[in-house]
Amino acid sequence: MKYDDGEAYDRIYKGPVYDLCFGMIEHYLDIYLPGNGQLLDAGGGTGEFSIRAAKLRERLSCVNLDISQSMLERAEEKFNQLDLSPRVSNKLGDIQNLPFPDNHFDYVICFGDAISFCPDVELAFSELVRVTKPGGNIHLSVNSFWGNYHLMYGQNSQQNVTFDDVKKYMETRILHINGQSTGCRSFTIEELLLWAKQHNLVVKRKFVAPVFPAPKEWLGDESILPEIMELQYKYCESENLMEFGNHLNVIYEKR
Ligand SMILES: C[S@@+](CC[C@H](N)C(=O)[O-])C[C@H]1O[C@@H](n2cnc3c(N)ncnc32)[C@H](O)[C@@H]1O
Repeated sequence: MKYDDGEAYDRIYKGPVYDLCFGMIEHYLDIYLPGNGQLLDAGGGTGEFSIRAAKLRERLSCVNLDISQSMLERAEEKFNQLDLSPRVSNKLGDIQNLPFPDNHFDYVICFGDAISFCPDVELAFSELVRVTKPGGNIHLSVNSFWGNYHLMYGQNSQQNVTFDDVKKYMETRILHINGQSTGCRSFTIEELLLWAKQHNLVVKRKFVAPVFPAPKEWLGDESILPEIMELQYKYCESENLMEFGNHLNVIYEKR
């Protein structure tokens, strides 16, 4: 999938369902972000999380890197409107070949499946590790393999899927719809934990956002929203439930 219209992207990916997922990720960002230093938002698109991080920590500098010029143009507009430039800046680049030296960033985030669209996900992850300073964190957020299975191929799916699509998904972890690859890979928690072993990283926290999907009508109802959120945080770190949620998140620390 190509992201070649930043304005359209921001129009589509908003509303209560996205607020729920983004809000939960921000909750954990607020726990782990350092007070200052440099953050890399790899595949940061239109800058949603660079903005959130910069608002959470006033002395943090953020680089929003993306392969799509259009996404970065939209991000630039937003950074200027919010008066965040030059503390928050943009950089055109590929996660698989990051234009930064080793051990450069205090905190690296890669959200919204940015890594999942890379043809070589292993190389992309090793690049995230390479540019992180020892003692720094890498926070990755990707589609859950089983959560996505239920969403895209399950009984109530709106998608026009065939059993061949499902078989392709099982083999490649890449969502296929009507014989077409979406190019977006999903992950199991086991795969994400294996990366920690292979790169000698500490797993500081893992959670899924959201752990259970809620209809947008519920999320728009202020009288029940606090209870919904309480349930999300109560269960989002549960090992048994994690795989069935939407976006798997792992916060790694580089030794
Ligand atoms: C679904 S968007 C997520 C954007 C942002 N991280 C967020 O959560 O709002 C995925 C982004 O990954 C970017 N992307 C895909 N492949 C990339 C690559 N190899 N290097 C850098 N960015 C990439 C796309 O251009 C797109 O902006």
